[in-house]
Amino acid sequence: MSKEIVVSGIRSTGHLHLGNYFGAIQNYVMMQENYDCYFFVADYHALTTHPDPKELKTNVFRVLAENIASGLDPEKVALYAQSDVPEIPELYLLLNMSAYKGELEKVPTFKDKVRQHPDNVNAGLLTYPVLMAADILIHRAVKVPVGKDQEQHLEMARNFAQRFNGRYSEFFPEPQVFRFNNDTVKIMSLDGNGKMSKSENANNTIFLSDDDDLIKKKIMKAKTDAGPTEPNAVMPDYIQNLFLLMHLTSKPEIVDIYRSQYNNCNIRYGDMKKQLAEDMAAFVRPIREHAAELQKDEALLKKILKQGAEKARASASVTIDGARKLMGINYY
Ligand code: ADP
Ligand code: TRP
Repeated sequence: MSKEIVVSGIRSTGHLHLGNYFGAIQNYVMMQENYDCYFFVADYHALTTHPDPKELKTNVFRVLAENIASGLDPEKVALYAQSDVPEIPELYLLLNMSAYKGELEKVPTFKDKVRQHPDNVNAGLLTYPVLMAADILIHRAVKVPVGKDQEQHLEMARNFAQRFNGRYSEFFPEPQVFRFNNDTVKIMSLDGNGKMSKSENANNTIFLSDDDDLIKKKIMKAKTDAGPTEPNAVMPDYIQNLFLLMHLTSKPEIVDIYRSQYNNCNIRYGDMKKQLAEDMAAFVRPIREHAAELQKDEALLKKILKQGAEKARASASVTIDGARKLMGINYY
């Protein structure tokens, strides 16, 4: 039986963090055995914010190295750079013909960007979801492991697929968000303001490249409060976030201890953070060290990218030929 097709991408806009790891990469790693996987560095998507050309390559190679250090095996999956697969921008162009200005302007991530950078509302930003749909549909993927923040973009990818199918012929499957055990994870930043992110609030985001001391420092500074005043109180979201991080990295019996202390109103957040800092540092350490080794071996990373692009183009060229034909672009 042929395996289900999976696609996901991460923008090369900075250092990877715990949100990327638990929201996305951990799922990639679990999927690599049983699915036909295409994972890529979304370097075109990163261009919407005009990164320094001198830094682009380092960023792409770092994202690649951090993915491999997190457990992705380039022999099992296609691991590539978006810009190495020209069929993607071609499909993006075709899909743009059925993507409407009104719907694109309504996308919350677009509205956020307009608010944050009113002087840089470029067409690449507006059509960001169309390029993302092209990334997915180019392999006719059915499953897309992404964090909660990407659900709206996935819905748009389904709309674009449906529209194409309706206008021409049944061709693209409708891709769905995928996560083991069915709940998408969102890791908040440690000060409780928004999500951990590559590009904002670095002091409150834990990166896979942070050393032990920095991890400990950041966690010890994480937002807490005076503690619950009644038994079994509802947790504020920043406390919930600490428990989530603990659940993801510490032993279950340790989480149980702090959870019951919380429920009994005798929790000491200082102790909890100390424990979490230890466990988090131990968790990140092997990933950081392996990624650093890989980044020194540029020849290896280049080889991996080339091999990934070949696998991706083999699948992408079949789709683009099919899409062109259905649209009537077959003159010879
Ligand atoms: P960032 O927002 O940090 O620049 P990307 O937009 O490149 O990261 O996202 C790459 C993947 O990581 C996506 O699947 C996204 O859903 C996931 N992701 C990013 N931040 C978080 C977070 N704080 N919590 C959970 N998942 C996240
Ligand atoms: N937009 C995604 C993000 O910001 C990154 C991305 C680009 C992606 N293309 C994709 C994710 C295709 C999944 C599938 O996180």
